[in-house]
Formats: sequence, C-alpha cells, structure tokens
Amino acid sequence: MKVVLGVAGGIAAYKACSLLRLLSEAGHDVTVVPTASALHFVGEATWSALSGKPVHTDVWSDITEVPHVRIGQEADLVVVAPATADLLARAATGQADDLLTNVLLTARCPVVMAPAMHTEMWEHPATQANVATLSERGVHVVPPASGRLTGQDSGPGRLPEPEDLFAICQRELSHPGASPTSHAGARASGAAGGVSADASLKSRGDLEGRRVVVSAGGTREPLDPVRYLGNRSSGKQGYALAAVAVQRGADVTLVTTSGLPVPPGATAVHVETALEMQAAVREAAASADVVVMAAAVADFRPAQVAAHKIKKTHGPDADGAADDSAPTVALVRNPDILAGLVAERGGASAPVLVGFAAETGDGTGSVLEHGRAKLARKGCDVLVVNEVGAGVTFGKDENTVHVLRRGSEQVLDVGPATKTTVAGAVWDVVSDLL
Ligand code: CTP
Repeated sequence: MKVVLGVAGGIAAYKACSLLRLLSEAGHDVTVVPTASALHFVGEATWSALSGKPVHTDVWSDITEVPHVRIGQEADLVVVAPATADLLARAATGQADDLLTNVLLTARCPVVMAPAMHTEMWEHPATQANVATLSERGVHVVPPASGRLTGQDSGPGRLPEPEDLFAICQRELSHPGASPTSHAGARASGAAGGVSADASLKSRGDLEGRRVVVSAGGTREPLDPVRYLGNRSSGKQGYALAAVAVQRGADVTLVTTSGLPVPPGATAVHVETALEMQAAVREAAASADVVVMAAAVADFRPAQVAAHKIKKTHGPDADGAADDSAPTVALVRNPDILAGLVAERGGASAPVLVGFAAETGDGTGSVLEHGRAKLARKGCDVLVVNEVGAGVTFGKDENTVHVLRRGSEQVLDVGPATKTTVAGAVWDVVSDLL
C-alpha cells in the first residue's frame, strides 16, 4: 500500500522514524513529506535513508512530476505524526503553502493525524476548533497521550507510541472509512480525570458493540482517615487495556483506583477499596461481555478503621495509662472479586472473565507453572501471567506476559513490550473467544 508519512516540526518528529520503519517493514511503500520546520528536528538525510526515496518539503522540486498532486492522489493512507498546532491550523483552513498541505488537499484516502504539542497549545480553543473541523471532515485525529513533555512539564500533548500509531494505520488500511476520531471528549476526560464517555471517540473494530469492564490500579484499604494499606500497582496496564478496547470499538467501563488521565471514550468509576471495587465491577459486569480484572486487589483489609488518626501513643493500656507500644493491626479477608464473578456466572451470555496474575518463579515452580495452577484455581477463561521481580513491571511502561486460556495448552508469550502492545494481544485472545 502507498502510505504518505507527513511530519510536522515538533520534537516528537524523532518518533516518526520508528513509525516509518514499522510501516516499511510491514511492506508499505512509504513517502515521507516533512515540513520545513520538521527538518530542524530530523534532517532530510535521515528520512531519505530510511524511506529509500528523495524527500521534499516544497512544491518546487521535481516539478515535471507534479508531486504535489500525484503524491496525495495515489496515496492509500496519509498519516501526519506529529501534527503540530500550526499544521492543524493550516490543514483546517485549507492552506497549500508547502508540499504536505498540498498532499492533504489532494488526498482522497483515509487521513490520520496525531497531534503533539505542549498542553496549553493543545487545549487552546483555536487548536480545539481546528481539530473539530478536521474531525468533521473525516480526518482520524488520534488524541495525544498524557505524560512528560519536552521540558519539566507534563500533561496531554505527547505523541502516542509509534507501535500504537502503526496499529491505527494498519486498521485504517484494512478498514478504509473506519469512523473518525473526534477530540472533544479527550480534552474533557483528560483534563478532568473523571468520568467521560464520548461515543464519537470510538472507531470501528473487532470489539464493536461489546461492553467491557476493566479494573485497574491497586486498592487502598484504610487504617484511619490518613493511612491505608496499599500496593505498588500503577494501573497503567489496565488503562492500556481500556484505551485499546475503546480504539477497537468497545463500550468501556474502567473501574479504577488510579488518578491517571482516563482514556478518551472510556467511562471511569473511581473507587478506593476492594469492597467498593467489587460493588462497581459487579454492577457493570451484569450487562458486560467481558470483565478484565487487571487491578491488584488487596486480599486483606484492616478489621477496623479508626475514626480518628491513630496517635503514636495510641490508647490506654491495661492500667489505663497511655500505651507507648506499637499497635497491632488485625486484618480480615477481602472477597475475591474474580472468583465471585466465576461463581455467579451462568448461561451462554455470561461474560468472558480475564484475570491477571503477577508471579515470580521460585523453588516450587516456574512463573508458567504458578500461572497454570492459578488459572485452574480461579476458573476464569483467560489468565494473563505477569512476570514480576525486582524493578520489573510495577510502574514501568513495558511488560512481559504469558497469556493462558482455560482448556488449552497453548501459551501466547508477549514482550518485553509496551503495555499497549500487551493490551492488544489480550484483546486478540478475548476477541477469538467472543
Ligand atoms: N483478584 C480479585 N480479588 C481479590 C484478589 C485478586 O478479583 N481479592 C483478582 C485480580 O484482579 C487478578 C486475579 O484475581 O485478576 C489474580 O490475583 P492474585 O493476587 O494473583 O491472586 P490471588 O488469588 O490473590 O493469589 P496469590 O495468593 O498469589 O496472591
């Protein structure tokens, strides 16, 4: 397929090199069209060497070939990554002052734009209006990711990872006309970090029309009004699962303890404790096709939650004097949410149940052996076994997993890979089961 990779002048231009590689390795014929400013970040020699073609920024080169018309007309897909605020403005107003904007005006194929810029520029009403205009015209605008930006600042504005953009390009090429993505909900949910569901953000895919529930993050079990028992789960894998499910067309409820920005298009239910998570998951599961328990649920909680902050000298001892010893915290068991869903389900319409298990190999068995035993014990349909160890997995952006299916000897090994790639592999397995 003929793909045009437009690159505008932002620091994230370096990520477009990886996207170019992925597109070329997939067998596509890629023409890179940078803007003049993009060449300040990555030079012409790099684009020519990686694409194996000459690279131009204006309409005055190879004039007999009329490239400013031909490149757009012949393309099967145009992807602009990164798309800067300036490029979005020029595209939205139909300007044709360089080769890339000419290509955008002549292209009749799907167009994907991945904006990347500082949060203030992204959130400015001018940029938002341009994005809305482009979305209305059928451009698939990929909402920017949140995270660390060029300087010390962080927030929405990062270019999504090349692997994710590549997956979107592949989908656009295989389902031309897949519904475009709008941006309005991305801003609402990202900024508020709260509840958001914007149906227009969903693009067509194999999970179209499916209702999925994903739990994410580590539960917090209060000891008193200021302290809790928690764990090191960041929630990133659950968020990646939710984001990919939205991209693939699902109606996603994310039950979460995490403060990460909610993936655009997902509906978030914020909870803290295992009991709250159980109530929210059960309610959402009643009408769901799939439940993925990616959360790290505490197995125990303090038997009593002190109404007031527990003091260093915490109470009268047997003689009625202030007690200087350390208090003992009694724990009680939390319900096993996943096991409860397994026990309660019945009938053909029961949801597909997916568990996660963080395992280390030890003297009693390997990571896989522990995973298989847990799959049998839990009775869920799919178990995603996470390899953990010192510094591995918690809070990191990469993950190594083995995906096991009930009743099958086959194991799908994934990684080390981004949590988004892992999420894609999990949804592939679930999609087969559905
Ligand atoms: N889980 C759950 N409720 C709990 C504990 C765990 O729903 N109270 C879910 C997790 O979300 C995960 C799966 O069960 O999907 C496996 O979690 P894990 O902690 O590995 O399982 P446990 O049965 O608690 O096993 P272990 O004794 O190894 O901690």
